[in-house]
Amino acid sequence: MGELHVMDHPLIQHKLSILRSERTGVKEFRELVGEIAALMCYEATRDLPTEDIEVKTPIAVAKARVLSGKKLAVVPILRAGLGMVDTIIDLIPSAKVGHIGLYRDPETHEPVKYYCKLPADISERRVFVVDPMLATGGSASAAIQFLKEEGCRTITLMNIIAAPEGAAVIRRDHPDVELYVAAMDEKLDEHAYIVPGLGDAGDRVFGTK
Ligand code: PRP
Ligand code: URA
Repeated sequence: MGELHVMDHPLIQHKLSILRSERTGVKEFRELVGEIAALMCYEATRDLPTEDIEVKTPIAVAKARVLSGKKLAVVPILRAGLGMVDTIIDLIPSAKVGHIGLYRDPETHEPVKYYCKLPADISERRVFVVDPMLATGGSASAAIQFLKEEGCRTITLMNIIAAPEGAAVIRRDHPDVELYVAAMDEKLDEHAYIVPGLGDAGDRVFGTK
């Protein structure tokens, strides 16, 4: 059973406060999304298995640990998820990156898939799906469903801001998925935007509005 982790680390919460502000411009917004993603990744990878090795330092042989077990993949949901990728693969250079393009139909709010390119060996990897926003949960649930159909067995979802409605959808559709969020907000508005949220994450990452 996957758990819900709300990350109340002071650094994450401080950066999130700036991210939410309507006065934060595109450059700073993009930098903050990356920084928060890195901090969330640090925590979300805490349970990765390691194995003992020995390393010869200039002084002596040290007992050390390196990552073992399944290789990793990061899968951003386009567009806004792209803002979380670079800092994560800086931390985990061996991770491969898959892309799933989904947009929400403005009327129905249902996700529409328009692009997908995944690593050939995705089914053998532990997958981190990243997207700053979990609103109705439709996009994340569809992306996870697709990854499962491709054979993925161990999936973690990382969102910066979630609505309770979206978290409930992930719990219902994918109870096995571990969910990491920096904030659980109050609700969705009539346009399925998160309240108070931060507005449209894709537009704010890429400056399209
Ligand atoms: C946003 C966001 C998520 C989705 C969340 O993307 O980045 O992917 O909405 O909403 P949901 O939980 O109700 O599905 P959007 O569809 O606006 O596309 P964009 O990233 O290209 O702007
Ligand atoms: N997508 C966003 O970018 N923001 C929201 O509040 C909801 C969906």
